[in-house]
Amino acid sequence: MSKQAILKLDEKEFEFPVIEGVEDEKAVDFRTLRSRTGYISYDEGYGNTGSCQSEITFVDGEQGILRYRGVPIEQLAESSDFLETSYMILYGNLPTREKLDQFRARIHDNAAVSPLMSEALKGMPKDSPPMGVLGCLLSAMSCYNPDLATNDRACDLENFDESAAAAIAQTATAAALSYRISIGLAGNQPDPSLSFADNFLHLMFSEEGKPYEPVAEVSRALDLMLLLHADHEQNCSTSTVRMVASGGANLFASVGAGSNALWGPAHGGANMAVIKMLEEIRESGDDGSRFIEQAKSGKSGKRLMGFGHRVYKSFDPRAKIIGKACDDLLNKMGIDDPCLDIARNLEKAALADDYFIARNLYPNVDFYSGIVLRALGIPVDMFTVMFAIGRMPGWVANWREIAMNPKGKINRPRQIYQGPAQRDYVPVEDRT
Ligand code: SDX
Repeated sequence: MSKQAILKLDEKEFEFPVIEGVEDEKAVDFRTLRSRTGYISYDEGYGNTGSCQSEITFVDGEQGILRYRGVPIEQLAESSDFLETSYMILYGNLPTREKLDQFRARIHDNAAVSPLMSEALKGMPKDSPPMGVLGCLLSAMSCYNPDLATNDRACDLENFDESAAAAIAQTATAAALSYRISIGLAGNQPDPSLSFADNFLHLMFSEEGKPYEPVAEVSRALDLMLLLHADHEQNCSTSTVRMVASGGANLFASVGAGSNALWGPAHGGANMAVIKMLEEIRESGDDGSRFIEQAKSGKSGKRLMGFGHRVYKSFDPRAKIIGKACDDLLNKMGIDDPCLDIARNLEKAALADDYFIARNLYPNVDFYSGIVLRALGIPVDMFTVMFAIGRMPGWVANWREIAMNPKGKINRPRQIYQGPAQRDYVPVEDRT
């Protein structure tokens, strides 16, 4: 007999089954709550609510654990690469050599974007925010790839291998194309002889007669950044992808919505906000200690960006890995970035400060990622775009989980209405 939860309401007792996950996570199954009791549960921000049962990623916020399909992020960071990890996130297991080669080839074969996209981009204001452009381009991919975006579940699933490869590859191509057009340059064509990371840097920086020259530590650092962002269970943007997918929308429409959800400074926009915060501290001559006091006061409206997390109440394991990669990269490239020193000061001070300790505020994935991206030559206003390129496999895999569930229902939360009670219409001449 599975464990039961008993709810006492209005002198009655109601039993609800308990669902247990592979890692002993427990949930009360409230799917019959309203029909049996007339009540709904209330959990603003969904911090205590499971929206789905998923097989993709496991996060333990208390222990600082992150695993993609059961494999610890530390092992993947050490031994895998972005495309191999993407394959596993999409299909469930690490690929055989043959499957991996096929997947890499499919990514390269799907890397070119429609020539019409260049025309669309030329119509965008030159100073458009890159995340605003990316959200448009991702949704527009359902226009450029109509046979992969039919909104017929069976058909879209049948074409999944192609649409998944197109979403992962063309997000990078579109991002680089958008950047080059915004600075008045023509786009570059994808180079199938290059790795995913080197191809992106080639698309961004190759010039006529002066092709981008891959640098091993740069390639490795970028590939690692993308791998570390590849999925993160039901975060704001991934939940948005699932919400849109639950209505039967195609993969591109769903990831376009997810990309827009990522844009906010509380979510994917934090990596840009961290660099802006570090630059502000540097320009003010502060070593970080003044800023920490402002962030603690709450009155200044300032937060220590890159710190805190809805789930991690201990170190975000990705922050540890990126922090080390940051040191390695800057040392190897001989870059002396004063923002790194400030970031280290902030981290040291915050980790010893009762305000942050009491609130379980630790560095998250965004705290060091901006310093790495800047060292790679990525423009600051594209940092969240880099997050989206990395997160694409996770968004696509979550779309597939929804699409493959024949019993899946359209997501439709309830609410508690707190507006005006019933009242009559008043003709305009009688209103005051
Ligand atoms: C990502 O969900 C995911 O998985 C997301 C992500 C992914 O991979 O998809 O991991 C990526 O989005 C990482 C988070 C990036 N955002 C930031 O770094 C922005 C700065 N951090 C915060 O705004 C905040 O920590 C959140 C939004 C991340 C989490 O907020 P919570 O858990 O809802 O915390 P809260 O806003 O309820 O704050 C609790 C207390 C408050 O103080 P009190 O009212 O109790 O006095 O902690 C304080 C907050 O003021 N607080 C901070 C703080 N974050 C929370 N104080 C100073 N600096 C901060 N960064």
